[in-house]
Amino acid sequence: MDKIDEMTVSLVDTHAHIQAEEFASDIDQILERARGAGVDKIIVVGGAGELSTNDAGLELARRSPWLFATVGMHPHDARQVSEEDLTWLKELTQDPKVVAVGETGLDFYYEHSPRQVQRELFCRFIHMSCETKLPLIVHDRDAHREVARLIRSEGRDMVRGVIHCFTGDFEDAKVFLDLGLYLSFSGIVTFKAAQALREVARKVPMDRILVETDAPYLAPVPHRGRRNEPAFVRLVAETIAQVKGLSLEEIARTTSMNTRTLFGI
Ligand code: NI
Repeated sequence: MDKIDEMTVSLVDTHAHIQAEEFASDIDQILERARGAGVDKIIVVGGAGELSTNDAGLELARRSPWLFATVGMHPHDARQVSEEDLTWLKELTQDPKVVAVGETGLDFYYEHSPRQVQRELFCRFIHMSCETKLPLIVHDRDAHREVARLIRSEGRDMVRGVIHCFTGDFEDAKVFLDLGLYLSFSGIVTFKAAQALREVARKVPMDRILVETDAPYLAPVPHRGRRNEPAFVRLVAETIAQVKGLSLEEIARTTSMNTRTLFGI
């Protein structure tokens, strides 16, 4: 990429866990590299692993005007969440730096928490999203139908949100698009074997697409298998540009606009 290109592209990493331990020693360089790659906003997503990733993410976001936070709890850890925790998380949503509820959702692949516990917590976060009018960041692994069903029945047409790290087929995509949701693509879309997912990305309307890293997980090619970081969202956007036959600038502009529409940033 030449210099002019670097300057004109402005991307958003809509899903990164950069408050995680993995980044503690070099967060400043991580942020600098993100800037260098044209990333001008990062949504620091709470709730992966520990409840404390929520206030850690918020604290990090408070340090820089271009960082934002979310509050939630990953379905893996659903069984850890008490009533007091939910009250505390709801209080955190009042902070102007908090732009979404999540991550939340259902993971029937790993099933680290029992399905019923996951469902109950997901419903609580759907309600929180409706009450706070903050969009929902949804994790869905092997649970497309139930995720859609619960959003429909509990959200009563009030839920706005995104299926993060979307990996379903186009039938799944259509169900979520019909619910008015956005689909966010991660580094998985760059993997050699992900031809089917690239085909889905090609068909999803541009005004519903977001890009993310899910750092530190799911580093895109050619960094696959190593620690992911927000700068690499550019590689995700480049792949989407390729499959859609559009320029990187176009993808950056539209996904930034979608981010503004959904998250208000
Ligand atoms: Ni995540």
